[in-house]
Amino acid sequence: MAQSKTPSPIEFEPPYPGYVFSHQHLLGIADLSPHDITHLLDRAHEAVSVSRQVEKKKVTLRGRTQINLFFESSTRTQSSFELAGKRLGADVMNMSVGSSSVKKGETLIDTAMTLNAMQPDLLVVRHHSAGAAELLAQKVGCSVINAGDGAHEHPTQALLDALTIRRHLGSVERQTVAICGDILHSRVARSNIILLNALGARVRVIAPSTLLPSGIERLGVEVFNRMEDGLPGCDVVMMLRLQRERMEGALIPSVREYFHYFGLDAKKLKMANPNALVMHPGPMNRGVEISSEVADGAQSVIQVQVEMGVALRMAVIETLIETSDRLSQKRSHRSAV
Ligand code: NCD
Repeated sequence: MAQSKTPSPIEFEPPYPGYVFSHQHLLGIADLSPHDITHLLDRAHEAVSVSRQVEKKKVTLRGRTQINLFFESSTRTQSSFELAGKRLGADVMNMSVGSSSVKKGETLIDTAMTLNAMQPDLLVVRHHSAGAAELLAQKVGCSVINAGDGAHEHPTQALLDALTIRRHLGSVERQTVAICGDILHSRVARSNIILLNALGARVRVIAPSTLLPSGIERLGVEVFNRMEDGLPGCDVVMMLRLQRERMEGALIPSVREYFHYFGLDAKKLKMANPNALVMHPGPMNRGVEISSEVADGAQSVIQVQVEMGVALRMAVIETLIETSDRLSQKRSHRSAV
């Protein structure tokens, strides 16, 4: 592990000649080109070493303010955004907004306008409604990162998953990835499907038909209803949490039966390729979608995903702030002439 006392800036080369990242916000993977994705992954790869240094703090965002606005509970995502901002030298404020009786739209816009008046440079938002981050981006003057909006997108999770795959398997291209479980309620699944397809992976989903959104094939996935059919030939097995808080009515017969058919245990994992990576975005329900033996086993990269989350978020924050600075410089140059 590289140990150095002086933190160096994240060094990176743009992946393609003449390429410029041009997004001020990160609202979804669907807005990004394969070049944008590769650029963020390259930069995040370089950022990993910053967190492994003795002194982890950079100064590139000194004097900048990042506000984390979480309308839904979160452990890993919120803390990793907080650490990422702090390691870049920004001032980070966490606002955990419990769900209130005020109508969703009103709460979000009112809060956004209040925060906007405090002149932040970056807002990181998680909300239970799809499209919330986009709405916010239209109302505020700073960069916005979507940290999960309903069952729509969770772009930084998909990017950190791709970074994990790339660092373990060399590339995302041509890997066969199975995303298993509660696809219906999962923004992680949606963002991953779009990203993995953009980078040339083969994507499968494995789930009972009650947990699959209709028309999922249109996103470019192969659909399986049995682990036995979908796991053979897989290089990566990505398990998803059963999101019971989003379920209306009984979509699964019982947790016991769900684990029997769709839970990843050592026996089912043997059906995938030898040394296939086991991933999970967390939080895990042990004994529901994954056994402890597999979650803590030799093929699991679940803790690596958490480490990559910080690096990836550092890269995203730095890139968006730089882009936003560049765009506002252009705007003030134009108004001066
Ligand atoms: C995911 C989320 O919130 O969408 N978790 C995460 O960000 N690490 C998945 C989940 O809640 O199951």
